[in-house]
Amino acid sequence: MRITDWGNISFAYLKTNHNIRCYHKNGKWGKIEITDSEYVKLHIASTCLHYGQEIFEGLKAYKGKDDKVRLFRWDENAKRMIRSAKGILMPEIPLELFKEAIFKVVRINEEFIPPFGFGATLYIRPLLIGLGPEVGVKPAKEYLFIVFVTPVGPYFRDGFAPVDIMICKKYDRAAPLGTGAYKAGGNYAASLMSLKEAHDSGFSTSLYLDAKEKKYIDEAGPANFFAIKGNTYITPESNSILPSITNMSLMELASDMGMKVEHRPIPVDELSDFDEVGACGTAAVITPIRKIVDPESNKIYQYCEGTVAGPVCSKLYHKLTDIQTGDLPDKFGWISFVE
Ligand code: PLP
Ligand code: COI
Repeated sequence: MRITDWGNISFAYLKTNHNIRCYHKNGKWGKIEITDSEYVKLHIASTCLHYGQEIFEGLKAYKGKDDKVRLFRWDENAKRMIRSAKGILMPEIPLELFKEAIFKVVRINEEFIPPFGFGATLYIRPLLIGLGPEVGVKPAKEYLFIVFVTPVGPYFRDGFAPVDIMICKKYDRAAPLGTGAYKAGGNYAASLMSLKEAHDSGFSTSLYLDAKEKKYIDEAGPANFFAIKGNTYITPESNSILPSITNMSLMELASDMGMKVEHRPIPVDELSDFDEVGACGTAAVITPIRKIVDPESNKIYQYCEGTVAGPVCSKLYHKLTDIQTGDLPDKFGWISFVE
């Protein structure tokens, strides 16, 4: 299949040519295999089917004006996948194996990397599943590491345009001492009901609060939350949110722009003090938030009007995306080229 309408692709699965597989058996990783099959053969008692032994990552390949293909901080995704694997007793994917797999999958799907200028990128999705059969609750003895790619447009439909989100008090995505800091499939299953309710009520996503007290902000659906107050970038500290690589980068960019950076618990009440707020992540990039609604109290926190994002969100967005596409020099050493 050839894609020509790059400007109109959404954040959805599109078939590409090949994906990558690597099996872990008898305590060791095998060789990387390339396949054109979109399917996996599973045992009916595979632990991924019953006990949620599944972790994943998400990163993107960006094509610049110079036609070069860049990856953004892939090593941070590799490290996070190691932490996730440890967290639910799966074998760690060595950094070198992760690197070989993601560089290879991009190279073998070269024609699916969106050209510069359409707001589209090649999304890379590494995942690790428990393959071996178990009926008792225990980790599998065999695993499969898969990496596929798919060209994507913006996660939130209008790209860099403000969205409205809803505070979620009815559901928790993750427990304080649970698996929220790992990129484990089960966390996303736990988020589906609240996301559906947010979408059904006309919101782009839900804003999770801390599960224990419902007093502090956790994260914004599949993205981290940040706020701007004067010259300060503030983002929640919590052990149940996913440590976002985008957020980590924005903290560095904000600090480089002369802003103060605060990484600390954010009480919900503080929402009325912020000048701008946003969601950030690989898929979401930076999504400015226009208003946050609390459906229980009907309280509305408004940050901007119409389609115009605040100045700091806009500045951070351009800095980040210009580094990712090579329009700004990579002074932080975040970029690797796929040649
Ligand atoms: N929070 C959750 C729950 C996510 O799924 C993601 C996406 O990976 C993020 C935050 C953002 O993380 P990153 O910036 O590393 O993509
Ligand atoms: C990402 O930002 O890469 C994510 O993983 C979000 C998502 C679950 C679609």
